[in-house]
Amino acid sequence: MATQEKKPENLQTSDEHSIHLSNPNISGMKEDILYHFNLGTKTHDLQTMFGDVKFVCVGGSPVRMKAFITYIGEELGLAPPGTDHPNICEGTDRYAMYKIGPVLSVSHGMGVPSIGIMLHELIKLLYHARCSDVVIIRIGTCGGIGLEPGSVVLTRRATDSCFKPQFEQIVLGKRIVRNTELSDDLNQELMECAKEMNEFNTVIGNTMCTLDFYEGQARLDGAFCSYTDKDKQEYLQAAYNAGIRNIEMESSIFAAMCGASGIKAAVVCVTLLNRLIEDQISSSHEVLVEYQRRPQKLVGYFIKKRLGRKA
Ligand code: URA
Repeated sequence: MATQEKKPENLQTSDEHSIHLSNPNISGMKEDILYHFNLGTKTHDLQTMFGDVKFVCVGGSPVRMKAFITYIGEELGLAPPGTDHPNICEGTDRYAMYKIGPVLSVSHGMGVPSIGIMLHELIKLLYHARCSDVVIIRIGTCGGIGLEPGSVVLTRRATDSCFKPQFEQIVLGKRIVRNTELSDDLNQELMECAKEMNEFNTVIGNTMCTLDFYEGQARLDGAFCSYTDKDKQEYLQAAYNAGIRNIEMESSIFAAMCGASGIKAAVVCVTLLNRLIEDQISSSHEVLVEYQRRPQKLVGYFIKKRLGRKA
């Protein structure tokens, strides 16, 4: 039987409106080494480096997160075209991190374990830097269910493969269940931006987070397949009936960890294909590149609007 995690009593906060660490051990440590970022509290002045961060955008690919910082730097007028943004984590090849003004852009790799490790260190980084009023947005790609390819989905809540809105983890051999609801306010704000932009279809829906791209997402084209096309169609139709509009591989732990830290968060993913019709991602490179820019454009618009840079 899984344990629903209780609200932690021993919250460590950097100050009001800020990051909660549900870990009483951190404040007693002489040094905190953020190993996978190649950063630490003794070796780096994290408050000077990151204290002004208000928007954190995370996504799977290091190349895409560098493209995002270039885009937002130009949009905010903080970096002229052609600026080469240094990778703050260049001492490690695990994750890449870029910063311009109040925006931090960090890659997280593929899947729950990879984004989970990154988020532990990112949340501690924001805590040590005494950041406040931070918003974290995952920008990514996904498979759509019943949507035209290129649609953008804002996640209401992330579900597991059984359509349950929860993230389950084994801790000390016991199942711990965490809530995966995301901020309604933030979704409404992003939806308002999408309407003002009026450039692509944007919907709010539930997102199924799986541990695999092939069998875990009911594909027929993996190295293994233990079910029929009919089984697949029934499963995806049942997901659609449960309000699920897209499938990806990181949203559940992302929602759970941001929620447990008191950080407002959103997941903004573009659909590369309609899974009710196909399994293989067959659009041209140019089309996929344009699709992948859509979450960046929407989040860029949102950041500019929040900073009062929109007409
Ligand atoms: N990412 C996924 O996890 N699934 C897809 O179908 C496409 C992108």
